[in-house]
Amino acid sequence: MYLKRQITIPSMKTSTNFTKTAVSSLRILTLSLMLGKFPASHGQNAAIPNDPGAEGAARAAAARGHAAFNQRNLHQLGGNGRSCADCHMATESFQLSPAAVKSRFDELLARRLEDEGADDPLFRPVDADDFRVNGEDASDYSNLIENGLVRVTMRLPANVKLLDPVTNQPMAQDFVDVWRAVPPLLDVAITGPDGVLPIHPPPAPARTAIMGQDPNGPNRQGGYQIDARFATLQEQARAALISHAQISVEPPLRMLDDLAAFQKTLFSSSGVENLASAILAGATEFPDPDPELNELERQGKLVFNRACAQCHGGTLHPGTSTPEAGPTFLRPIRRYHNVLTTFPRPAPEFGRGPERLERNARTYRITLANGTVSTFTTSDPGRLLLTGQIADLNMMDIPNLRGIGRTAPYFHNNSAATLEEMLDHYDAFFKNVARTVPAPGLPAVLSSNGTNLDRGFVLPEERAALIAYLLRL
Ligand code: HEC
Ligand code: HEC
Repeated sequence: MYLKRQITIPSMKTSTNFTKTAVSSLRILTLSLMLGKFPASHGQNAAIPNDPGAEGAARAAAARGHAAFNQRNLHQLGGNGRSCADCHMATESFQLSPAAVKSRFDELLARRLEDEGADDPLFRPVDADDFRVNGEDASDYSNLIENGLVRVTMRLPANVKLLDPVTNQPMAQDFVDVWRAVPPLLDVAITGPDGVLPIHPPPAPARTAIMGQDPNGPNRQGGYQIDARFATLQEQARAALISHAQISVEPPLRMLDDLAAFQKTLFSSSGVENLASAILAGATEFPDPDPELNELERQGKLVFNRACAQCHGGTLHPGTSTPEAGPTFLRPIRRYHNVLTTFPRPAPEFGRGPERLERNARTYRITLANGTVSTFTTSDPGRLLLTGQIADLNMMDIPNLRGIGRTAPYFHNNSAATLEEMLDHYDAFFKNVARTVPAPGLPAVLSSNGTNLDRGFVLPEERAALIAYLLRL
């Protein structure tokens, strides 16, 4: 009971009182969000132009965007008092660590002793574990405090149902809550759709649509969010305002443009900023964003290029969020991957994870293309929620690794506390791949020819160098 007391607080009313109309227009907004409706012509990722007038305008937009990013009381939009910066904390490389959540929570409880009305809008019922049961009275913030995870509500594809954990029967609800980390916003200028290969899924063999669902899903060449479901920062910001800040009226388009302009000025280093300028200017040769490296870090870079860059580093778009698909690459890598970060994880390579993360797993029932019915259990189905295809189960977009030394913990569910733990995870992952898809059919992730294990796997004696390099990214 002690733990329970620590992580729950009495419900608090949001800073704005919703009127009935506000609530119902919010429902409509939420629905249109889950349907993915957004003005298509809006918010292309344009490079900041060179002429001085346009540069001044871009700077002004970024300044307005910065203000909007920090603004808690979007009163005219009827929000819940949250700003973007409440989750994407500037002091945390624009992400949110469980440690920061915990210290804000403790501080809030301390302030509450003096002042009953003390508030921190990070803690809103919509992100409480018991929100679906207790609504605005919800108060159990375990996922937020223990894991740094936030509720992301996704619409279920027509062929997928959640199973009731008690009766094991399909439930009527057409949505599911998954719990995801708040990613850092550095370098988002180059981590959206990149227009380069590979495409997901590959054009052949063609997939069969099930119950009218697009079998390929949106953004087949990268996008924002761990499942790449958004194509632009504007589309992303609109969704964030609706789901996290609970606004009840449509946000002005200019504000979305301003937020995007601001976020495109956030870089993890001047090297990445130079790289971004080259990419956005359409260059075909790219500057190396790495700083000057010492001998150990240079060795680490060789290890990275062998073991990680097949996914985290394409020559056609050399951030660290685009997989390799260069013309010299004979065995192409896929765009999206299941690196076994969801729970439960397969034995014998993985043991059971901590209960605070294992408990987020749900069991689903899926109707396959051939009409048969199957079930799967996962804490986050990833791209499957966008396509209804079992092949997309647990598939995630490849995240940017620049600045990674400052953004622990790691993975979409914050399941690796340190870079060491992250490498332990990959060791188990590569072992699992080698066991389940053995030579001579070794996948491109592990082998350049299907037989030799010449990619993946980091040797124990290579770790120190790799970590030294990762810390300089
Ligand atoms: C309640 C916490 C919360 C708030 C408030 C919030 N975000 Fe986020 N943000 C998240 C989470 C969680 C994700 C990851 C969701 C996913 O992958 O499905 C995310 C993802 C993003 C991404 C995608 C980054 C990438 O690399 O793909 C961007 C950009 C972003 N947020 C911008 C914003 C902006 C702009 C605002 C304010 C309008 C905002 N966020 C408000 C929690 C929050
Ligand atoms: C098969 C493709 C693939 C390979 C190989 C790969 N990664 Fe990843 N990486 C991913 C995907 C996909 C994710 C997102 C998974 C998640 O968030 O749960 C990811 C996530 C990460 C993250 C977490 C980033 C964050 O912000 O939380 C780190 C760190 C990372 N990888 C480092 C590495 C290192 C180091 C290597 C080499 C030892 C490597 N990766 C090899 C695909 C790959």
